[in-house]
Amino acid sequence: MAEDKAQENNKWTTMWFGFVDWVDERFPMTETYEYHMSKYYAPKNFNFWYYFGVLAIFMLVNQILTGVWLTMAYAPTGDGAFASVEYIMRDVEYGWLIRYLHSTGASFFFLVVYIHMYRGLMYGSYRGPRELLWLIGMAIFLALMAEGFFGYLLPWGNMSYWAGQVILSLVGAIPVIGPDLMEWVRGDFLVSDATLNRFFALHVIALPLVLVVLVFVHMVALHHVGSNNPDGIEIKKNKNKEGIPVDGIPFHPYYTVHDIHATVLFLIAFCVIVFYAPEMGGYFIEKPNFIPADPLATPDHIAPVWYYTPFYSMLRAATFPLLGLDAKFWGFVVMVGAIIIPAALPWLDKSPVKSIRYKGAASKFMLATLVVSFFILGYLGTLAPTAGRTAAAQIFTIVYFLYFVLMPWYTRVEKTKPEPERVTV
Ligand code: HEM
Repeated sequence: MAEDKAQENNKWTTMWFGFVDWVDERFPMTETYEYHMSKYYAPKNFNFWYYFGVLAIFMLVNQILTGVWLTMAYAPTGDGAFASVEYIMRDVEYGWLIRYLHSTGASFFFLVVYIHMYRGLMYGSYRGPRELLWLIGMAIFLALMAEGFFGYLLPWGNMSYWAGQVILSLVGAIPVIGPDLMEWVRGDFLVSDATLNRFFALHVIALPLVLVVLVFVHMVALHHVGSNNPDGIEIKKNKNKEGIPVDGIPFHPYYTVHDIHATVLFLIAFCVIVFYAPEMGGYFIEKPNFIPADPLATPDHIAPVWYYTPFYSMLRAATFPLLGLDAKFWGFVVMVGAIIIPAALPWLDKSPVKSIRYKGAASKFMLATLVVSFFILGYLGTLAPTAGRTAAAQIFTIVYFLYFVLMPWYTRVEKTKPEPERVTV
């Protein structure tokens, strides 16, 4: 009996390996699997902060899957959009769940990506040889911001409409070509059906494609240079006789198990919000978005969703004209500058060490001020402006930029600690 079972098992094993060989002769399946999984040696000192890359992939998959199902019942027209979202929420089987997984998913995606970027700042992951990896990450960030903005217009609630109006009007602030460009982007003289249609096309197909391609390229670049780690030292510099980094462990099974564990915990937190607080007190879905778009009724206070508010604050912080150009134009410049300035980090950081663990007090202090200013600006961006709040936004905008602008100086002059030879676990 036992012999029969063994023989049966052998038969299946032989068939499986035969199949794998057949594929491998035609497609580099095993080679790719080994290169990216079982023979990808990742530093053995990954910590909590290293969970967020995989969680970002998880959120991307969630957004794509729930997005496909929402599209099945959503109508991208000025007359039908709001009603179709109501229909999804009330009549479509589990439509409410799919919508909340998508809307809460957007907030969680940004949360995860912000933490992922912060980890890069802490451990100097943007430094050579990972400059291109960082730049690809920045391209992902820009695409994600655009994706979120286009998606926000789709429910065609009153905040969707007016937030779209405000952000698109910024294009009009560009000197000379602005007004024509704005009309071209909107496809009409005001935010209308034509705008909604093109935003729908960009949101459901163009930008998801761009994101998927960029994430793929991000992974290829990462596995080519190898992961950084909390000590910021290059594990490839210390290999054994077989050419394997002594401080590395195979990604599979060690980090796959580690990441599954994190994903389950993350999913629990995500579900708690999806089921018990999907609107998050108006921070994830804003209150004016429960009434249909009305071009004649501006909401009392127009504010974007929380993940844009730090940059929105910086946009509003520019209050005076300069060089013959109005304040709105300068607000636009400051906002775009704040979003893209992290792309310069690989060339701004002159420290002899990568990780914050071995950098000096100045780097630690500046990173703390960056985080504090980001939170304060984020909070201010959710509130209606007053003279005092605008002054605070101006001060913290300067604090935000100082982290980057002063970096070549403070990373050069501060006293650093020596990096260890081997990773510290
Ligand atoms: C859809 C968004 C993104 C996805 C799915 C993604 C995915 C990943 C994954 C799976 C890793 C390896 C695991 C880890 O180190 O956590 C990684 C590493 C990395 N990512 Fe991303 N990422 C995204 C956005 C970004 C952004 C916006 C940036 C920066 C601007 C960035 C910069 C980096 C860097 C520098 C590393 C290497 C970190 C290290 O080795 O210390 N990524 N990413």
